[in-house]
Amino acid sequence: MNLSAIRDDFPILKNNNVVYFDNAATAQRPVQVLKAIGDFYTTTNANPLRGLYAWSVGATDAYENARSRVARFINAADDAEIIFVRNTTEAINLAAYSYGMEKVNAGDEIVISVMEHHSNILPWQMVARAKKAVLKYIEPETDGTITVDMIKEAVTDKCAILALGQVSNVLGVANPVKEAARIAHEHGGVILVDGAQGLPHLKTDVQDMDCDFYAFSGHKLPGPMGIGALYGKRALLEAMQPFMRGGEMIEYVKRDSATYAELPHKFEAGTVNAADAVGLAAAIDYIDAIGYEAMEAQENAVTALILDGMRKLPHVHVYGPKDPLLHHGIVTFNIDGCHPHDIASVLDEENIAIRAGHHCAQPLMEYMQEKCAMEFRATARASVAFYNTEEEAERFVAAVSKVRKWLGFGD
Ligand code: ALA
Repeated sequence: MNLSAIRDDFPILKNNNVVYFDNAATAQRPVQVLKAIGDFYTTTNANPLRGLYAWSVGATDAYENARSRVARFINAADDAEIIFVRNTTEAINLAAYSYGMEKVNAGDEIVISVMEHHSNILPWQMVARAKKAVLKYIEPETDGTITVDMIKEAVTDKCAILALGQVSNVLGVANPVKEAARIAHEHGGVILVDGAQGLPHLKTDVQDMDCDFYAFSGHKLPGPMGIGALYGKRALLEAMQPFMRGGEMIEYVKRDSATYAELPHKFEAGTVNAADAVGLAAAIDYIDAIGYEAMEAQENAVTALILDGMRKLPHVHVYGPKDPLLHHGIVTFNIDGCHPHDIASVLDEENIAIRAGHHCAQPLMEYMQEKCAMEFRATARASVAFYNTEEEAERFVAAVSKVRKWLGFGD
């Protein structure tokens, strides 16, 4: 992989001296993605799926080609199993409203983990409350490990839905989602895998994983904001009611009733986000051309340098597994006496961008505060992408080593 050529593709990185280590929140986009979006608007922009003139037909084709690209990328059996949504949050809400609210019964169990981000907690809280079901949590080890045995213990014949992140956005650990799918199915349940943090790092095959639903966002890939997808097995999607209603998601509308369009359009109400779907397809082309193996090698090299440097620093506490290969680019940490927001602000002075706070995973923060004796219910988090460099890792570790001094501590 030619790292310097790759960095040249990212204008925001090329034009600024910023160490961008907030990739788990959102990635940066290469010119190829920006150009694909621009080309859509300058060559064929019109409302897709409606018009009979050339631009609208072109917009429809571009949109549906993007869907096929996503389907091939995650190896869905059928393009119609890809529902375009705004992001992972919307994808999980779609599954919760259209599947959960219909299929979960009183006394059923919905199983999630303490490590989920809010988008994979709140929709299930809603379903559990509305349907008088039980929301059951798997507790990970303190380094974020969830074992197959933990899943076996949590999933019983009462389990209607198991919803698990592919990779934790705080600890970076990957969950055994393929085994989890087998366990959920053995007990008659379905599994939703939240791929928000997984797909940017792990080659994913939804048929091999045998998940029933898979949710992801484009903007972490590095595609545009405002586009993502819910994959669902055709039989499940066909049996579900639409989540939102309006626009071209219908077959026929009468004054008092309506029938709905075939998959996938049944779930895509209103004017669709075709330009960003096209941008997402360009992002997929981009990372496919580099290849996951090369991306992982670079991410792992940078992550290992960060972890190695940070572990030598007094007052710094790094969470998650010991093995850098298990971090998927995520390094979550605290520094004695320093609030994570202060750490982030000090690093910003050095042109280093990280995220700090609860990472939209407050139950995990509560758990870590207790089990890992954290001073605050929050952490600082550096998250690495394939375009980050070893030099950036060194700059980051050097800046972290000075945070306490900058904040007025003697050492
Ligand atoms: N879920 C995203 C993150 O971890 C926003 O930062």
